[in-house]
Amino acid sequence: MAGDAVAWGRFWLCSMGKEGVFMFDATTREGQRKWPMQGVVQPKREDVLRLPRVHISTHPVMAHKMTRLRDRQTQPPDFYRLVKEIGALLAYEATETLALEEEEIETPLQKMNGQRLAGGIGVTPILRAGLGLAEGFREVISDAQVWHLGLRRDEETLQALEYYNQLPHQVEFQVCYAVDPMLATGGSAIDALTILKRRGIPRLSYVGIIAAPYGLMKLSQAHPDVDIYIAALDESLNDLGYIVPGLGDAGDRQFGTF
Ligand code: PRP
Ligand code: URA
Repeated sequence: MAGDAVAWGRFWLCSMGKEGVFMFDATTREGQRKWPMQGVVQPKREDVLRLPRVHISTHPVMAHKMTRLRDRQTQPPDFYRLVKEIGALLAYEATETLALEEEEIETPLQKMNGQRLAGGIGVTPILRAGLGLAEGFREVISDAQVWHLGLRRDEETLQALEYYNQLPHQVEFQVCYAVDPMLATGGSAIDALTILKRRGIPRLSYVGIIAAPYGLMKLSQAHPDVDIYIAALDESLNDLGYIVPGLGDAGDRQFGTF
């Protein structure tokens, strides 16, 4: 089995041989084929570029940081810092339509009517990989409340499983941003937004770093009322359900758990 590694993962080594993608348990070395996305028809980039409510960053500083983030040479401390910085840039873009209300203040010279954000803002990091993004958000909106939600993608079925929930029971907030770097099949994002909607949050946005066309299409169809902000739209998912070219496993690269 010769070839290049095609995915980052805690327990799996993956190689691309003549027969396709072959995964084997790195601990036991017992070979097993697990190709959850094999044969699944995926939309192309052009098919999803003009979906309503989808915003893809065009900022040159974002493009610069994305290149550093994707680079396999970038080590966890720098990777985490970059996720935070990209989170702050995305927060700036995703908050452009927030409602304001008037506030009377006094400058050292005179009274004036200023403006403040109308109503509170919630940020829901989808654990674990959403943590760095949420930190970036708080650099822009320091008093945002953070509501943690733990979802883990089963790597064989690609289904998201909920394991932690710290969402508030009564919510009177202007908006909540669900943040997670990777929108792959869309399963985690779709489930997170469904869970948030059940809590009665009036307005929701999704903020991610990289999306695959497949996940973007699924998310847009499942939650057509949700604004989606991303830094980059990639080509596709590989047979394992990883985004390509992507950046590998966003959680492992932030927290050094290879
Ligand atoms: C990753 C990522 C998303 C999810 C995306 O998390 O951060 O939450 O996979 O895949 P999907 O669109 O196919 O659902 P993972 O489940 O690996 O957990 P982690 O954040 O703890 O690494
Ligand atoms: N989760 C990740 O961290 N990376 C991917 O490419 C897909 C899901």
